[in-house]
Amino acid sequence: MDRIIVFDTTLRDGEQSPGASMNAAEKLRLAVKLEKLGVDAIEAGFPAASPGDFEAVKMVASKIQKSEVVALARASKEDIDSAWGAIREAAHPRIHTFIATSDIHLEHKLKMTRDEVVKAAVEAVRYAKSLTDNVEFSAEDGSRSDRDFLCRIFEAVIEAGATTVNLPDTVGYAMPDEFGELVDYIRTHTPNLDKAVVSVHCHNDLGLATANTFAGLRAGARQVEVTINGIGERAGNTSLEEVVMGLYTRRDHLGLTSNIDTREIYPTSRLVSMVTGIVVQPNKAVVGANAFAHEAGIHQDGVLKHRMTYEIMEPETVGLASNRLVLGKHSGRHAFKKKLAELGYELEEADLNRVFERFKELADKRKEILDEDIEVLIAEEVLRVPDKYKLDYLNVVSGTMAVPTATVKLEIDGRITQGAGFGVGPIDATFNTIAKLTETRSKLVRFTINAISGGTDAQGEVTVRLQENGLVALGKGADPDIFTASAKAYVNGLNRLEYLKKNPSLALGERGL
Ligand code: KIV
Ligand code: ZN
Repeated sequence: MDRIIVFDTTLRDGEQSPGASMNAAEKLRLAVKLEKLGVDAIEAGFPAASPGDFEAVKMVASKIQKSEVVALARASKEDIDSAWGAIREAAHPRIHTFIATSDIHLEHKLKMTRDEVVKAAVEAVRYAKSLTDNVEFSAEDGSRSDRDFLCRIFEAVIEAGATTVNLPDTVGYAMPDEFGELVDYIRTHTPNLDKAVVSVHCHNDLGLATANTFAGLRAGARQVEVTINGIGERAGNTSLEEVVMGLYTRRDHLGLTSNIDTREIYPTSRLVSMVTGIVVQPNKAVVGANAFAHEAGIHQDGVLKHRMTYEIMEPETVGLASNRLVLGKHSGRHAFKKKLAELGYELEEADLNRVFERFKELADKRKEILDEDIEVLIAEEVLRVPDKYKLDYLNVVSGTMAVPTATVKLEIDGRITQGAGFGVGPIDATFNTIAKLTETRSKLVRFTINAISGGTDAQGEVTVRLQENGLVALGKGADPDIFTASAKAYVNGLNRLEYLKKNPSLALGERGL
């Protein structure tokens, strides 16, 4: 079987999803997880975009040993210098340079002729090649570019040293048969194409990213550019889990394989969702909450008689263990540690102690603790930043006859302060009071609430996104009481904003290509 190169761009194109920006520590944590998942290449960021992104890519490059670490650069010397500066220490560095090739981009965006674009691409690749052997070139908006021009530019960049040529469907416009034919045309009309790996990079504007990626593979592409949970610019990128499980489940049909450890797919999906605050839709293929749930009586009956009647993949294959260890208040430290290992976490002793203590508190309130509950505790206790603000007490009055009122007691740098305030609803009252006590002026740009499990005793998981003077921070909180969960999330967001103010180099900022 041919092995497909899995190039993960969750930390670069995925991070361009509205609201997904990550700080350097979060990128590093995800990169470690992606390496464990077995991706061949991790595109860690776009170093020229901001000093924060440069630092984040550098941190990833110094940590990752097995996967290639890729930095994106426009076709300019400055961008390439910045990319190389960030990844030069990597065990396996790759520079990824790109320029648009469609007439619409040339005329309206670049204001360059085709000859000028070829010249810029060749110079960029040649320069990148003087720094490292491993150079990728992308023809941005490739799917809307003239096919003979694509062949011309690919031939020229391969001649200049590109080892991978990537065809993006940047705006998610292509149809699968058309995209497959384009890859085929390029393969058969570019004389030196056998000297490079052909890659495809699809966006999901018409919901066709995975189908287009498979069409590209059928036509001979051997690298796929993907993101976890399909996050990415606008409607997102091709999702890694869909492609990998397609390759695995239909290996009989495709005859292709990948290096991915499929059992790491679900834990990685959870971590990406937790770090970015982007919730996975329940009906999402492979990793959605309902992906393996059988509701209809006929289906349940069939699955009980023989699983394969209605199940084309086994949940265990993607890391959803059916004989999962269920934890409750009698579970000890050993079982807890085992559960963490099952979920893919190896915590340091001090982190483990804190998470275990929180687990015990929760288990006193709830009969059964779900994996998702534990992940939220990890998010709160391990992915946290030093706390300036701590929530000590919250009392909320609300109802049909009451004016929503919140009484809050906070610890600010060790000093206790308390107060009360009103709002249009109980959460508004809570946030207003916290803002007043902390004398902060952040803007709440997103608020989401999610019940971790189905029952009324579920933990509410709240994510807030706060913005202040160009800095953006995500705050998370979970509690069986949704007002407390909201207050915790808000306080967590304020702590993260404080942290970013003190460490501006970690703030990646808002941006896009
Ligand atoms: O979608 C796109 O064209 C890109 C390139 C930079 C590869 O993300
Ligand atoms: Zn893209």
